[in-house]
Amino acid sequence: TGVAGTGNERSFIAIKPDGVQRGLIAEVISRFEKKGYKLVAMKMIWATEEMAANHYDDLKGRPFFPALVKYFASGPIVAMVWEGPDVIKTGRKILGATNPQAADVGTLRGDFCLTTGRNIIHGSDGPESAAHEIGMWFTEKECSAYSRSIDSWIV
Ligand code: TYD
Repeated sequence: TGVAGTGNERSFIAIKPDGVQRGLIAEVISRFEKKGYKLVAMKMIWATEEMAANHYDDLKGRPFFPALVKYFASGPIVAMVWEGPDVIKTGRKILGATNPQAADVGTLRGDFCLTTGRNIIHGSDGPESAAHEIGMWFTEKECSAYSRSIDSWIV
């Protein structure tokens, strides 16, 4: 096999309420899955505003924070943990820029949405936030360690 790199890296990816409402669940999963990443945990959950505020803890005090919390708690989300080489940084590339109008075509935000306040998906922005977010939404037991036979064809 090739060089594996940081094969066990994990990122927290969540389809926000607008992504769920607009029928983009399969599209999001499909892009991460076909890239070669491994889905190790997934649940649909309707977050309370308290959970949303905790999730976006680092943005407390920003002017858009109250609207962001309301939006994130406005309907069910699909919370996921994806695993694989460089998944945090590459996952952010698959998402595209925070502002969908600046996001490249070919990214999820570039292809499917128009405004920052309805940008369909969340992805951890670094190792610390990934660990914090995964721990907030999942227990270790809910994260399945398994191998896909395809792994050896990718890395
Ligand atoms: P941020 O962590 O900066 O972006 P990202 O989701 O790409 O990691 O911000 C979190 C979310 O907050 C972002 O996805 C949408 C919302 N947001 C706004 O509504 N207005 C803004 O000006 C910014 C920067 C973010």
